[in-house]
Amino acid sequence: MKILLVGSGGREHALAWGLAQSDQCSALYCAPGNAGTEECAERVDIGAEDVDALVNFAKEKVIDLVVIGPEAPLVLGLADRLAEENIRAFGPSAAAAALEGSKGFMKDLCAKYNIPTASYGRFTDLVEAKKFIAALKEKNTDAPIVVKADGLAAGKGVIIAATEEEAIEAATDMLSGDSFGAAGNEIVIEEFLDGEELSYFALADGKTILPLTSAQDHKRAYDGDQGPNTGGMGAYSPAHLITPELEEKIISRIIEPTVAGMAAENTPFTGVLYAGLMIVNGEPQLIEYNARFGDPECQPLMMRLQGDLLEILLAGAEGRLEDVRDQVSWSEQTALCVVMATEGYPGSYPKNTPIKGTERADQIGGVKVFHAGTGKNEEGALISTGGRVLGITALGDTVEEACKTAYRAVDMIDWPDGFCRRDIGWRALETSEAAE
Ligand code: AMP
Ligand code: GLY
Repeated sequence: MKILLVGSGGREHALAWGLAQSDQCSALYCAPGNAGTEECAERVDIGAEDVDALVNFAKEKVIDLVVIGPEAPLVLGLADRLAEENIRAFGPSAAAAALEGSKGFMKDLCAKYNIPTASYGRFTDLVEAKKFIAALKEKNTDAPIVVKADGLAAGKGVIIAATEEEAIEAATDMLSGDSFGAAGNEIVIEEFLDGEELSYFALADGKTILPLTSAQDHKRAYDGDQGPNTGGMGAYSPAHLITPELEEKIISRIIEPTVAGMAAENTPFTGVLYAGLMIVNGEPQLIEYNARFGDPECQPLMMRLQGDLLEILLAGAEGRLEDVRDQVSWSEQTALCVVMATEGYPGSYPKNTPIKGTERADQIGGVKVFHAGTGKNEEGALISTGGRVLGITALGDTVEEACKTAYRAVDMIDWPDGFCRRDIGWRALETSEAAE
């Protein structure tokens, strides 16, 4: 089979690595890919958001399956365009990707199908928004108020406002178009959920779901969960909070009713459902949905997956997930990914800085160095081209072991312009220390 994988991040390198292991994979293209995907896929110089060029390429090469990594092409309707050309795609239609692309759509679906989530209101009018903020404050004076831009805002569209004034300011900025442009034309204001976060992944083929596994991300830039929000500075899987009971609740109360609800609304969901959850006193509440794998969560997931990724995603795209249910299993080991980013990220940062030592680090047993923002200079040497640059991922029998191995590999990388967090997995490590 000829596969086209769309995207250029660490998630896509991990997916390329997984897809290339399938016996069925005869050709793998990655558009646009990175220096890391070159080990297993041919790079194609088409941006992930250039829908016309991607469709033309898929037609020209007679691609059998297009795997769509990031959210932007989904929201732009790449899966719909491919369907019109009778090309199989793994990833939801634009209408179904609204689960990620519109927070208001997601919240209304939850309300209609009784999916547990924070209480909320949707607003385009500031006067109404202010009234709702005042009412939330009256209900609980001590709790922060959460203000969200409705549309995609690259993970930055959420303000946790400590005071009523701050909440009003955030709502004002968003609705005026100042902070997030059109993504903030509508806002969602919601109650603050106090608990610990966990991500859960499931595949859906429009009607059937195939539960995958859990992970925990680290969104802040610096150690101790300090500093600005990022796309994710590290992740590990499984999440330490997960138990069979909690997993059962997540599936039956959140994932299943979502997929059934989407089908009932005539927007059946095909692809990866990534549920961002808050676990409040042992009970899962949905914070957000993403319509794709997480980055960097995908890297540990792919290290733990046992089964043929290509067959699994193909079955998803063809509406026959039931056929592969028995093929999906997970290593009992923990996988942990440490992201190395360019100094300055998530703000501005230099590009084209030299990186050495990735190949040596990759040779450590149980380690895989996934690339994100990397390229090669004219001499063919590895350079950074983005903010998040490497995802050093290791397997271990325990989270301690995975963590130790991952950082041993990190320490072999010679990249003066890079930095990473030193505490990935800290919640799990603290819990396991406390248990000893
Ligand atoms: P989102 O983009 O919706 O995932 O929000 C980004 C982050 O904001 C989440 O990962 C949470 O840490 C936090 N957050 C969002 N909504 C809430 C909420 N209702 N209560 C508490 N924290 C929240
Ligand atoms: N790591 C967070 C995300 O992929 O959205």
